[in-house]
Amino acid sequence: MKPRVFVSRIIPDEGLKMLKRDKRVLLDVYEHDKIIPRRELLRRVKGATALLSILTDKIDKELFEAAGPSLKMVANYAVGFDNVDLKEAAKRGITVSNTPGPEIAETVAEHAVALIFGLAHRIVEADQYARDGKYHGWGPQLLLGTDVIGKTLGIVGSGIIGKGVIRRMYDGFGVKILYTNPKPDEEIEKREHAKFCTLEELLKQSDFVSLHVPLLPTTRHMIGAKQLRLMKKTAYLINTSRGPVIDEKALIAALQRKQIAGAGLDVYETEPEISPILLKLPNVITTPHTASATIETRQVMSRRAAENIIAFFDGKVPPNAVK
Ligand code: DGY
Repeated sequence: MKPRVFVSRIIPDEGLKMLKRDKRVLLDVYEHDKIIPRRELLRRVKGATALLSILTDKIDKELFEAAGPSLKMVANYAVGFDNVDLKEAAKRGITVSNTPGPEIAETVAEHAVALIFGLAHRIVEADQYARDGKYHGWGPQLLLGTDVIGKTLGIVGSGIIGKGVIRRMYDGFGVKILYTNPKPDEEIEKREHAKFCTLEELLKQSDFVSLHVPLLPTTRHMIGAKQLRLMKKTAYLINTSRGPVIDEKALIAALQRKQIAGAGLDVYETEPEISPILLKLPNVITTPHTASATIETRQVMSRRAAENIIAFFDGKVPPNAVK
C-alpha cells in the first residue's frame, strides 16, 4: 500500500496538484474549507506517513499517538510553527517543516504597512463614518489623522519580514527607523540608516511600533503593561506576528486609558476569539490573521509545503525542515 499524505484542510491548489502527480503517495484531503474538528483530525491522521497541517491544528503528543508510528513528516502550512510540539516530534523522529520565504515575508510586510497607514489616516473609521451616512460635507477638523512622513518607526525583530517593512517605510515614506533584535544588522544600518537600540529605547521614541518576532518563551508577553507605559501617547502598535507576543489585557487597558493612540492587529492572544472590547474601539484595526492572505503567497505556501513533503519522500532533508 502506498504511504498516505493527509492534508487537514483544503489549501490553494498548486501544492495539492504536485502531491497528486507524485505516484508514490496516496493523497487524502479533508475536503472542507474549515478547521477540521479535533476528533476528526485524530481519526484521519491514523496510519498516515505525512501530515500537511494548518496552523490551527495542534500538533502535539496526543496527535502523534493517534497517528501511530507510521507518521514521519509534518509539513506545517505556515511560517510560524508554535502550534507544533517540536520536542515531541524530535523524540519520535518526526521531521517538521514550515513554509518560510521571501514572497511570504513581502506579503506580511505589505500588510503591516497597510495597518500603519490605515491607522494614521483612520481609513477604517472614515469608511465606517461614510457608510453610516454621517458625511454631510467637508470639515477642517473631520477625522484628523496623523502624517507618517518624518515619523519614527520602531521595528521589533529585524528578520526578513521586519526588513521588508523597514525597506518600504524608509525608501517610500521617509520615516526614521529604529530597530531591536538579538544582534545588530549592518546591512539595514547602512542602507536604511536604521538605528539599533534596546526595546525600551525603541518604545520611548517610536511613533509606530511594529512587531516581527516569532512566538517563543522569550517573546511571550514581551509587550505588557510596563512596555506599553513607555510608549508615547500618540504612538501606534502594530502586530502581525503572533498574538501572545502582546499581553492583550494590558493592551486593552492601555487603549482604554488612551495611554497609546491605537493598534493595528492581525493576531490575537486566544485566536480565533477577538476581544469584543477591541472590536468596539475605533482606534483599533483588526484583521483576522490575514497578513499573508494573498492569492500569490498562499499558492507559494502550498507549493512550499508540497516540496517539503516530496523532498522527504525522495529521502532528502526537506528544504524548510525546522530544527
Ligand atoms: C504564518 O505563516 O505563520 C502566518 O501567520 C500565516 O500565514
